Amino acid sequence: MSFVVNLNGTISPVEQVTISVLDRGFLYGDSVYEVIRTYGGRPFCLDQHLARLNRSAERLGISLPDQDHLVAEIERTIETAANEESYCRIIVTRGSGPLTLDPTTAEDPVLVILVKAYTPFEDWMYQKGIRVYVPSVRRTSPQALDPAIKSGNYLNSVLALGEARKAGFDDALLLDRQGLVTEATSANVFIYRKNRLITPQLETGLLAGVTRGLVIGLARQNGMILEERDLRLDEMLEAEEVMLTSTLREVMPVVQIGDHQIARGTPGPIAPRLRSWVRDYAQQWVLGPAQPVGC
Ligand code: PDD
Repeated sequence: MSFVVNLNGTISPVEQVTISVLDRGFLYGDSVYEVIRTYGGRPFCLDQHLARLNRSAERLGISLPDQDHLVAEIERTIETAANEESYCRIIVTRGSGPLTLDPTTAEDPVLVILVKAYTPFEDWMYQKGIRVYVPSVRRTSPQALDPAIKSGNYLNSVLALGEARKAGFDDALLLDRQGLVTEATSANVFIYRKNRLITPQLETGLLAGVTRGLVIGLARQNGMILEERDLRLDEMLEAEEVMLTSTLREVMPVVQIGDHQIARGTPGPIAPRLRSWVRDYAQQWVLGPAQPVGC
């Protein structure tokens, strides 16, 4: 198992890599990033992650390296790490410059690719389900730092998760200022209620998760009724099932929100079914080109 870092084209063990304290990623979170995982040793849904990286970079005015170069570097770093399955984080910072907020003063963007062994979440989380807290901190509005941008500034999520951990919960569910459900700190949310799979619409202000897109595609392909719309917390509390989706979690059941148990406090059948669809899709993709369904 190895943990390596590709810094602007040079791959080294993580302990040997250093970056300037004047880097704006360090100073201001002035960077964009993606988290990818491999199945069968290959980066899964790479095109979708790179498309989102492009959208994020465009919104911040950070220039990305040439796309083919980026793909080649990601693959080379994963190969060098030689893990059975890898976690891969791609970061592009605006670079460094004088100590000023002014983004036009930055020098060349810095590309960092971190690759370490993929460690799955613990089994109990899927078997028993997790408990999420509703923190006082709210999701930033799309008119402020738009949650659709996957930037290096994750303080909103850090504050929310800090509140949740302090209260003894596993994760936090962020509402917007109007009280609408947006997403968890690093995952999207779905509920299952009255034969419908429901997830907050992107316009609410949330990250367009690659796994969210995949789950929507697979659910539709399998004949489920899918709704992307406004979702209020009280409706969520009445759900038969609640689940989180992300690259690293796939689909994970939630059995408690604050003091309120979901259904009877045990996971239902829908979350594991959706998870097995995601895993089957990934396995088919490993064997050959899988049918595109939104990932
Ligand atoms: N997080 N919402 C937020 C705020 C996220 O940070 C993430 C991903 C998601 C799910 O997106 P996807 O399905 O594309 O992974 C939703 C990654 C895993 C992370 O930062 O670790």
